[in-house]
Amino acid sequence: MIRLVWCLVVLGMLSFGCKSSAPTEPPAVEQPAPLREVASFPVGVALQARRLSSAPHTRAAARTFSSLTAEYEMKMRPLSSGQGVYNWEAADDLVSWARAQGMQIHGHALLWHESVPAWVENFGGSDHEFEEAIKEYITTVVERYKDDVVSWDVVNEAFDNNSGALRNSVFQKRMGDDYLARVFQYARDADPDVLLFYNDYGATYDANKRRSILRMVDDFQSRGIPIDGVGLQAHVTYTFPPLTSIQAMMDSIVVRGLKVHLSELDVRVNPNGDLTTLTPARSQAQKERVRNIVTAFMALPQEHRFGITMWGLIDPESWLIEFWGNPEWPLLFDANVQEKPAYDGFLEALQGR
Ligand code: G3I
Repeated sequence: MIRLVWCLVVLGMLSFGCKSSAPTEPPAVEQPAPLREVASFPVGVALQARRLSSAPHTRAAARTFSSLTAEYEMKMRPLSSGQGVYNWEAADDLVSWARAQGMQIHGHALLWHESVPAWVENFGGSDHEFEEAIKEYITTVVERYKDDVVSWDVVNEAFDNNSGALRNSVFQKRMGDDYLARVFQYARDADPDVLLFYNDYGATYDANKRRSILRMVDDFQSRGIPIDGVGLQAHVTYTFPPLTSIQAMMDSIVVRGLKVHLSELDVRVNPNGDLTTLTPARSQAQKERVRNIVTAFMALPQEHRFGITMWGLIDPESWLIEFWGNPEWPLLFDANVQEKPAYDGFLEALQGR
């Protein structure tokens, strides 16, 4: 009997000792709800194919977002290294991954003057042969992804800043001023169901560019040229442009019966280079800015809300850092792939808070 009591005492001490000496786990930080589960429209992220090998990136992106844009690999320069020569691998990897996560895919971008391969820039044939080559490119790419890609930026950034004039891109030079209408038609002919977007920046603060974009839309609609939406890139700062001007441009798209895509949202918090770290105050301001923009988007009629796409996943990988040369923290996730207050701002807007 004594032996049994002794064993029970020892067991009690051991279990108590195990309990008392076990390291106390810090309370698990409760993750905020996934945006994709709360949003009534696609919430997207731009990723490069090389991020697919990073588990933290793919875990956070798949949990949070319901749409994917290729940040780079579905543009003309990476996709086509020669006339009739295509490098599908990276784009296919992104498409396969996105489909496996149940994400929709936004194609970016069929024609962009900043992503023109040498074979196009230095095309030696006639203007007619040039247009045939562009038509062939658009047809090949759109047909390849017609079961995967729900929407395409058919043309990106066709109008100059300030003047709003049509850029003298190789497309304008070789195909003439009306090239936009023809390439939108080529994309439509390749896929009768895909949504066709015009995508640009600056339309919310550059009056001439805004006017040129809306004139193009009006012209397309008067001639029966297919267009389904306008992408406002929305590379904003925590204070500029005014929310009212963002709302005005979104409304101008809606009244024309088109869909609005905030297609490349990032929110610079260090536009004047006064920060070396992200301060709590600036982080809070960023949160409010994100919440206000998402709230304004939510106010649009449902059928006009194509989606909001963040132009990148984590702060340190934003294009803005190299582009502006300042430290920046413009996205929803920090360097440790943790949700920031800006994420909470997005979520609170989705929840109507
Ligand atoms: O992947 C290649 C690598 O193999 C090569 O060694 C290296 C050296 O040239 O280049 C790498 O490609 C880079 C690519 O990003 C992927 O990192 C390109 O040089 C670089 O130019 C490219 O920058 C992208 C840029 O568009 C041009 O395509 C940025 O990531 C991307 O954020 C930026 O996004 C644009 C939108 O498409 C349109 N709106 C403006 C926005 C910002 O410029």
